[in-house]
Amino acid sequence: MDKLKSAVVGCGSVSSQHFNTIDKNEKSELVAVCDIIPEKADKKAAEYGATAFYDFDEMLEKAQFDVLHICTPHYLHAEMAIKAMNKGINVLCEKPLAIFYADALKMCECAEKNNVYLGTCFQNRYNDASVYIKNLLSSGEMGAVTGAKGMVTWDRDEEYYSDDWHGTLAKEGGGVVINQSIHTLDLLQWLIGSDMVDIRSSISQKRLAGKVETEDTADALITFENGVQALFYATLCYNGNSPVFIELLCEKGKIVMYDDLAIIKKGEDKHTVTFEHGKGEKGYWGNSHGKLIAEFYDSIINKTHFEVDGRSGIKAVKIVDSLYSYARKI
Ligand SMILES: NC(=O)c1ccc[n+]([C@@H]2O[C@H](COP(=O)([O-])OP(=O)(O)OC[C@H]3O[C@@H](n4cnc5c(N)ncnc54)[C@H](O)[C@@H]3O)[C@@H](O)[C@H]2O)c1
Repeated sequence: MDKLKSAVVGCGSVSSQHFNTIDKNEKSELVAVCDIIPEKADKKAAEYGATAFYDFDEMLEKAQFDVLHICTPHYLHAEMAIKAMNKGINVLCEKPLAIFYADALKMCECAEKNNVYLGTCFQNRYNDASVYIKNLLSSGEMGAVTGAKGMVTWDRDEEYYSDDWHGTLAKEGGGVVINQSIHTLDLLQWLIGSDMVDIRSSISQKRLAGKVETEDTADALITFENGVQALFYATLCYNGNSPVFIELLCEKGKIVMYDDLAIIKKGEDKHTVTFEHGKGEKGYWGNSHGKLIAEFYDSIINKTHFEVDGRSGIKAVKIVDSLYSYARKI
């Protein structure tokens, strides 16, 4: 079987997840890498036998590839994805698809116009506990979801903000909401199985007040089309990176997701299903990048639906954009 040719733009922290999976996957072959910092691109190119580029447009013009992995700061996602898709290239974009819903929508339309795949990295949907809970809900055994809450309490200090994009509204687009807890917002809408119709929210700066432009703390009450309301709280002011906590109240009981645990309470029965934690350098990110990336390639090759496509990934972008719009008005 011919392998799909891959390129990665952005050789920073998260890119290692992409490089490792492309390398291990028998269906992909890395041919080009790009970073504006030449040493970073050179290092990855040497490691994986690919060609290094220091300019994205030049890579698009000179290299031939089928799949582009976008691992750059948020403000670059939409422009890079649209340029690539207009050349018939499939795009797997790190989260968020874009800072603004309107740009993410243009990305979805561009993918459809060019008949290419657009995916986004909400890898936590592939965690064993997430899959288990999604299946349990789909089985009807717990009845419908009637309420939910999601909580993220992580730690980001001044050093995290020492580069040129984190903590800036222009390049990151926001703080804990658009960057860290967008995964939890995605899981909430995916598990509840409905689109957001209303949001009341607030954002604030606590630990790094006045030192960065973006919020480190946020809360919201989110209403979904099916009538379910979800409470959401996220902060980067904790002294550790706790596992994400999600609770789903259901007609016939309650489900809690915490780390690799699914705790199910139904009538008198309460039991915990424990999943093995996959290996990964940053466990609190979730360890399912590999599964998501492998499925993206399988979908392209087999011409099947990709679970976290643009139209699915945009739902969390809409919640984020709406959360900020509401919070910035009050
Ligand atoms: N899915 C996850 O769990 C997860 C985890 C971490 C980061 N991310 C996402 O991945 C993306 C990158 O985050 P990161 O932590 O790796 O950031 P990073 O700052 O470590 O890396 C970004 C890289 O992009 C490069 N870059 C910047 N502008 C460029 C340009 N014009 N052309 C080419 N390269 C350019 C930088 O030099 C840097 O090497 C973000 O969207 C972030 O939200 C996702």
